[in-house]
Order: sequence, then C-alpha cells, then structure tokens
Amino acid sequence: MRYGHFDDEQREYAIERPDTPLPWINYLGCEDHFGIISNTGGGYSFYRDARLRRLTRYRYNSTPLDTGGRCLYLRDDAAEVGATPLVWSPSWQPVRRELDQYECRHGMGYTLIRSRLQGIEADIRYFVPLGDSLEIWEVTIANRRSRPANLSLFAAVEFCLWDALDDASNFQRNLSVGEVEVVEGVIYHKSEYRERRNHFAFFACSAEVAGFDTQREAFLGPYRGWESPSGVQAGLLSNSIAHGWQPIGAQHTRLQLKPDEAKTVVFLLGYHENPPDDKFDPAGSQVLSKRSLTPIIARYRQPQEVEAAFLALRHYWDELLGKLSVTTPDPHTNRMVNIWNVYQVMTTFNLSRSASYFESGVGRGMGFRDSNQDLLGFVHLAPERARQRILDLAATQLPSGGAYHQYQPLTKLGNNDIGSGFNDDPLWLVLSLAAYIKETADWDILDEPVPYDSNPELAEPLYGHLQRSMQYTLDRLGPHGLPLIGRADWNDCLNLNSFSDTPGESFQTTTNKDGKVAESVFIAGLFVLAAQEMVGIARHRGEADAFSDAASKIEDAIWAAGWDGAWFRRAYDDSGNPIGSKECEEGQIFIEPQGVCVMAGLGVEDGRAQRALDAVADRLATVHGIVLHQPAYSRYYLHLGEISSYPPGYKENAGIFCHTNPWIMIAETRIGRGDRAYDYYLRINPSTREDLSDVHRCEPYVYAQMIAGRDAPAHGEAKNSWLTGSAAWNYVAITQWILGIRPTFEGLEVAPVMPSTWDGFKAERYFRGVRYLIQVERTGPGNEIRLEVDGHPIEGTVVTLPPVGTQEVRVIAKVGPG
Ligand code: BGC
Ligand code: NOJ
Repeated sequence: MRYGHFDDEQREYAIERPDTPLPWINYLGCEDHFGIISNTGGGYSFYRDARLRRLTRYRYNSTPLDTGGRCLYLRDDAAEVGATPLVWSPSWQPVRRELDQYECRHGMGYTLIRSRLQGIEADIRYFVPLGDSLEIWEVTIANRRSRPANLSLFAAVEFCLWDALDDASNFQRNLSVGEVEVVEGVIYHKSEYRERRNHFAFFACSAEVAGFDTQREAFLGPYRGWESPSGVQAGLLSNSIAHGWQPIGAQHTRLQLKPDEAKTVVFLLGYHENPPDDKFDPAGSQVLSKRSLTPIIARYRQPQEVEAAFLALRHYWDELLGKLSVTTPDPHTNRMVNIWNVYQVMTTFNLSRSASYFESGVGRGMGFRDSNQDLLGFVHLAPERARQRILDLAATQLPSGGAYHQYQPLTKLGNNDIGSGFNDDPLWLVLSLAAYIKETADWDILDEPVPYDSNPELAEPLYGHLQRSMQYTLDRLGPHGLPLIGRADWNDCLNLNSFSDTPGESFQTTTNKDGKVAESVFIAGLFVLAAQEMVGIARHRGEADAFSDAASKIEDAIWAAGWDGAWFRRAYDDSGNPIGSKECEEGQIFIEPQGVCVMAGLGVEDGRAQRALDAVADRLATVHGIVLHQPAYSRYYLHLGEISSYPPGYKENAGIFCHTNPWIMIAETRIGRGDRAYDYYLRINPSTREDLSDVHRCEPYVYAQMIAGRDAPAHGEAKNSWLTGSAAWNYVAITQWILGIRPTFEGLEVAPVMPSTWDGFKAERYFRGVRYLIQVERTGPGNEIRLEVDGHPIEGTVVTLPPVGTQEVRVIAKVGPG
C-alpha cells in the first residue's frame, strides 16, 4: 500500500493523504539554519545546533503524534454569529479537520502543502533561503467559491528557550525568563537576551496584522491545545505580551477575497545575532537593536524576493545533483542515485545524527565515526565543505591517535561526557581522507597543520594524524594479535568491556574491565582496508609505506583466529571466547566482518570470501534485507552489553541495518557477483519498498537506519529514518561498485559489476573539473571490461586525467567477453 508517489521530474515525493503511518518529514536549510518539517507542517527549527540554538519547541513522542510545530489556521469569518465557526488547518494538523483535497510535496530543501476545503484553496511553500537565517512560509489563499470570502489567517509557533534540553526540564527558572518585543507587526523572542545572549528569534508577517499573541495561554485559552486555540475560534487575538511562562508568536491577518481571487502572505521565522557590544538600541536601554535585521525582513516581505530566493535554491540543488547522474534500466536506481540518496547524503553531512524524528536534537553531536563515513558519499558534492569537515574532525583527535566519539557542532569541541575509547573511530578518518583526495587530488591537505584535542599548540600536519590513527590500532592489540575493541567498534552495542548490571547505566561509557582481552575482527578488517589507502598515499608522497607489514600481520591474525571455517568471526570476548562462531549458542554469524574483510580483499583469491558471502546469503539474508547476526540473542548477556538488551530482531540485536547491507553489496562485487549485489541493493532501496508502506511505515524516499529483522514480530518495519550512515554507504555501493564509477588516486575508474540482465547504462560525472560521459554496454556474460576513451582503447579500467583544457571525456565501457 502507498500513501503517495514519486514525481521524478520535479524531484519531489508527493504525499496524498495527511495520515501517513508516521510523520513523513523533510529538511529545510542547507547551510546553518535548519528546520525539520513533517507532511502536516510539524517539526521545529534551529540555528546550527539543534540542542543549543533551538528556535521552536517540539514535543517528541507526543499524542497525537506530531502536534505543534508550524501552526496555520484558516477561519471562515462569514460563518453566522453564534454557530461554531469553520476553522481548519490547511496543513491538516493541528486542527485535523478533514480536508476536501490534500497534497504534500517534499522536494530538495523545500516542502509544499496544498489543500482545499469548501472552495478555499491553500498553497504553502516552506523553505530556508540560501545565505540567510530564516524560514519562509509563503501562504497563498485562493477563493474558488462563487461568492466573496471573508477569512482570517493565523500562523503560530511556540518558542524554545534556546537550550532544548534545559527547556524541557528546568521549569523553575524557565517559566520566569520569557521575554518578547512586538514592533511593527514583528514578534521578537528575546529570552535571556538581557544577559549573556546576543541572539534572538523573530516571527514576521508580510501582510498587515489584525492582531497578535505572544503568551501561549492567551492564545490557546486555559486548558486548551493547539487544535482549538480560543483566539482562533473567536477570530480575535488579544495582543498579549509574554512575561515569563511560554512565549509564542501568533499572527493574525484578515483576507477578503473575491471569487477566484488569490492573495499571498509571507511569514518569516528567523534567527539573528547582534555584535555582543552593540545589542541594544538606543545603547544603554533594554530594547533590542533591530538595525541589521530590518533590511532582511523588508526584503523577504516582498513576494518577488521570495520567488528569487526559491529559484536560487532550486539552482543550488540542480548543481549538486548534476555532479553525477545516471540512466539505468531501473527507475528505483535512477531516482535514488539521481535524487533522493544524494539528498539524504547531504542531510547526514549537515546534521550527522543530531536532529530527526528519532534523534531529539539534544543527545548527540557530530559523531566521529559517523561523520567520516558520511563523507564517503559526500566528497564529490561540495569538496570545500568536505575539506573543512575533515579538518574539524581531525582537530578533535587526541594525541594518542584516538578520537572523541562526538563533538558539538557549535563549539567544535570534543564531547567529554562520552569521551573516547571506541577503537574503530580513528580508522574512519583514513577512509574519509582517502576518499576526499581521490575525488579532488588535493594532496596539500595532508600538510595542513591540525591540532590535537582542539589545542593549536599540539598541531601537526594532517598526515601525522593519519599515521597516529593507524598506530592507535597497533598499540592496542590483544591476545590473538587482533585489535582490542575498547568500548565498542562499529556496532555501538557490542560492549565487551562494559559488564553493566545497573539499570539505566550507559552501556557505552560504563567500563568494568580493563579492556586488554576483548578483540574485534571487524577492526582488524578495517585496519587492512585503511592500510591499503595508506599505501596509496605514501606512494604518492614518495615515502616509505609504513603499514603494509603491520597489515599482513593482522591479516595473518584474522586467518589464524578470525576465520571460523565458513565465515569470519566477529570478536573475542573478555574471557577470550569467540563471538560469531559456530561454537556459540547464539550470535553464530555476524554481517560486519564478512563485509569489511571481503572489502579489504581477504579471501577473494582463494574462495574463502565466496564461502563467507554464501553463509551470509544462507543465514542472514531476508526479503527485507540482511540482518546483523543470527541467531538473535534471546536474553541479556552481561559480557555482551547493549546488543543483548534489545528484544530479538530489533536494532543491534539482529535487526536489518541498512548501513551494513551495502558492505555486503560491495563485497559481492569484489567477487564478481553483480546479480547478488544488485539484489541486495534492491531489497532495501526505499523506493522499491514504497508499495509496502503499510509494513515499512517510514518514508519511502530515504533510508532508515534499521528495518526489523526476522526475529521481530514487526519484521520489515523501518525505524530511525534519515540520519544514518546508510545514506552514504548505499550511495557508494551502487555508484562506485555496482555501477563501478569510482574515483582513485590516479583518476576515474569505470568498472561496473552490474546485473546480468542489464544491457548497459549511461552516466554523466563531473570529476576534477572534467565532464565524463560514460556509456556502458554489455557484450556478454561476466565482468571483463574494455575501455575506450574518446574513441581510443586504453589499458585497464582507470581513466587517467586528460590533458589540461579538456572539458569532456567520452568513456565507453564494454562489459563481457571480448
Ligand atoms: C544504539 C543506541 C546507541 C547509539 C549510540 C544506536 O544504534 O542502538 O542504543 O545509544 O547507537 O551511537
Ligand atoms: C548508530 C551510530 O550512530 C553508529 O555510529 C553505529 O555504527 C551504529 N549505530 C551501529 O551501532
């Protein structure tokens, strides 16, 4: 069952009814100012940091789902006096009055909601313009009745007192600090501006306002909710000025529309900063200075400026999406590669795991492991931004080579609450940096001085950071010569040193063992993979390669202690017993080491890779994707930690992680099995799952972190959509390995391992300033590849850089026997 459809031409997903199984959301904003918006206008906005600069309040896990947010109300003022007035929300929520027509279209950085009730049409466009810190709601109301319409339009938001966690807990203070100003129809939210803050929020309206409210209770009425504010019911707001309690912004404007007349009203919800020493106007007063903001508001109050800003946003996305576009025989592949997967990659780059409908914005900052992996799919989109991100991440590395597990986007400082000790973390930096250099050939980045622990005095060239990342693993080897796992590796919940028996304790920061025994085969595979990148980098720098010997030793250790006979083991626990082995009662085989070890090339030549991947197919693959392990843990194991805290089939306890599935897709291409790789790709591709929306339940246009595994009663149900490494990894798997268009240090490689049923595909790729027009033709079975570049056959599969000045390169790849 579906709730909407893809409109690939417009690059939109059109939702046809408001009551989707879960709120289906989109993101507004691409730079510093962000909003999360659901298909009924729910969600919230923030500036850069979802926790510390939250503009509007949002109640997670509320009933009904997704109330509050961007509230719009229409009231038919002509309804007879005495009768209950006709009031509705053109975005359905919060009033939830049934609409005659409804459609929500999520597009690239904007959302459109269109609806109609009793001949009144509403057309709302929400977006954040490039270069400014505000959200625009452009509301057009048209009268399709045969008689004039007298309407009231209300817009309302509830302000958050900046720190979203404090806002939801510190009521003894917060209910007394709220302050606003209202000047010329603009509502300014300035709580705490009197003291140390130099920023405020504003809510403006382009039309003449008939009234406003800034105190929540005045607007809603006592003991009433957002679905029926008394001010809206009455058609009259009380011009309340909030002192403490709950500051809101509610605007009221009246619309008189002749038959077929339409009017547009623009609401602006924004954030603004003043210089700390120039906060008040006049100086010495307590009145906030509006000097630098006034021109911005004036600009966006004009519809033609709004239109221009929207076109600029469309153009920005045209450019980004144009970096790689493909035409394959499969529409699901095309739309994910060309539109939605890229879009999600950009979103994870911007927000890491901080703010979604499953991430409350108060918990996590930028993950070190996460952000490095997000870069793998992002480097070609905005290389300068990728460069900065890499430098920011590396600056939070510790002198030991270890890394803070997370850092706060606002301060860029490592987060001390979580600290370090996730032993896979530093290796991901090697992978992201290699991906960045392969894309850009910006070798100079390696010589950039970068601090450790954000301390400029501890700076050293970035290359040194890479070496320390590698050395970090080698300094921490366990009894089998495999890397020690620390608090956890990629699987956050495999906490082999935690031994936590206290309810509520964090599994990841609780360490009751000294960590000298438990080892990770996954980190071992990741080290071998990273060492291969280090070889390529050292070679280019003309330096001795310092890590291949170490990598061969680790490979030996994998074969000696990490191979179970038919697949790779997962780890060793604190007692030195294997995890992910046929010897185990539960958790006999895990997906992660099969993926990473084969990606690193282990067993590819001698058939062991194939055996491992066959074991994955036999034991882990389901119609909804590949589960993390089998059998699921049926009870809590003290020595395994959080992984066994989840009921079987959910999350890390044998859920389907859309993040790890692409590792298997890539591994399958490493052994030439394009059909298998592509089959796995389609099983979790959100677009192919659109028809199953009643089972899948999350948005059909983006990946979710997890789909419930076969042990769960809700097998096939997705959770934690949007902010997940699944975005980058699926993008890498399909574009670089199945379609085979892969940047290397030397140039662009074209080496598809595509399904046998395809007779080819076309692609256009901008790479290092050159436009590559790629045409792949299948000439028969198999994956043998012959390349022609601009009409000339070349050796191998890497197209080295064309002579300077060449703007276009035509590559024809013939796949199959010669
Ligand atoms: C786990 C959470 C954990 C988080 C931390 C998730 O995948 O299931 O319980 O807190 O990762 O990164
Ligand atoms: C989510 C975390 O953000 C990511 O870092 C981790 O690898 C996965 N969970 C798996 O545990």
